[in-house]
Amino acid sequence: MTDSIASALIQGSQNRSGNDPIFSLNAEAASRSAAGESILNATLGVLMNDAGKLAVMPSVSEALQRVPLERAAAYSPIAGAAGFLSATISDLFDDGPLAAQSISAATPGGTGAIHHAVVNFLEPGQSALTSSYYWGPYGVITGHSGRGVDTFHMFGEDGRLDLDAMAIGIDRHIDQQGRALLLLNFPCHNPTGYSLDESEWVGVAEVIRMAGERAPVATVLDCAYLRFQDPESDHWLHAIETMLESGTVLVAWTASKTFAQYGARIGALIAMHRDADERVRLTNALSYSCRATWSNCNHLGQLAIAELLTDPDLKGRADSERDGLIEMLRGRVAVFNEGAAAAGLDLPRYEGGFFVAVFTPDGEETAEAMRAEGVYVVPMEGAVRVALCATPEAQVPRIVEALRIGVAAAAS
Ligand SMILES: Cc1ncc(COP(=O)(O)O)c(C=O)c1O
Repeated sequence: MTDSIASALIQGSQNRSGNDPIFSLNAEAASRSAAGESILNATLGVLMNDAGKLAVMPSVSEALQRVPLERAAAYSPIAGAAGFLSATISDLFDDGPLAAQSISAATPGGTGAIHHAVVNFLEPGQSALTSSYYWGPYGVITGHSGRGVDTFHMFGEDGRLDLDAMAIGIDRHIDQQGRALLLLNFPCHNPTGYSLDESEWVGVAEVIRMAGERAPVATVLDCAYLRFQDPESDHWLHAIETMLESGTVLVAWTASKTFAQYGARIGALIAMHRDADERVRLTNALSYSCRATWSNCNHLGQLAIAELLTDPDLKGRADSERDGLIEMLRGRVAVFNEGAAAAGLDLPRYEGGFFVAVFTPDGEETAEAMRAEGVYVVPMEGAVRVALCATPEAQVPRIVEALRIGVAAAAS
């Protein structure tokens, strides 16, 4: 018998789950595969090529190698390297009017950007609002800093974003907290794959503009997958203009997916406001949070990404390499959508991106039945998430068939 010891961990830290559930599923899939089974692992959100290897961009490796090591070895300025910060703003808005209303702070990936938004726009004990399907780490990022996450019902009867539910949620937060922090992850929403169309962006922006007239409202556009949407689609930019009439807009920018550079931990929180004095307060608040958390971010990564965003030759090559990756993903999406329709699967509108969700009466049961077929997906409430980003095109029919079996098992 072992003695029970008194843990010096504070109460809230004593029973933490040490690993993200997705990473645990990934580990199980990897161990079955290593034991010789034929396993299809569609759990992790990284882009793999059709040979099953991590897809990387040669221009990015070159940019990293070109950075003089003595520059990289020095501390970065606390809020980020100046060239990197201005490059992130130009990447989103060129030199247009939105750029003039923006400031930027470097963060370790989009995760760090969400962290800064949560600790600066919510008091301890308050909650952010997001859609009922959402990226799981929103829960731990908010929980770890003594805040919470609350949701609005994501899809209406017509399968579109439930705008009324979002408006009611924002009103509830304003009534209860005197403020609202909204987290929206479009385009290519993780976990559903959903992207807003023009009329949905107009509706979302108008609801937020009206709410901002009643109370302080900040909206985070988590743009992790921005570069994987149709490049012609600029509805989100018009939506930002509308939101800025009454509130604060924050963009969580990340190099993780844009440059297939997940390990470098390079991102930024771009904060926008129409008032110049407020922009000074935003700059100071975000810089303070940098100092209080990671101090300053990976300097090598910032210098390299700044070059990739501004040097015409490197930028041109990075854009065309990314186009190739998007094309590869598009091929998988087309095969998936055709197979899913033929198999009668129920899914949200899916035009591209790393993931798609398939609705099912029971996500856990469906994922379990799929694991019995050697196929790994992530279970959720009423759906499973499929990482097409990690699925070679030739394997997509196998996923569709496993989904058909898994959904049928949950329905029986
Ligand atoms: C919705 C969403 N937001 C933000 C991120 C942030 O990723 P990172 O911290 O690697 O930039 C991810 C990554 O998976 C994501 O899926």
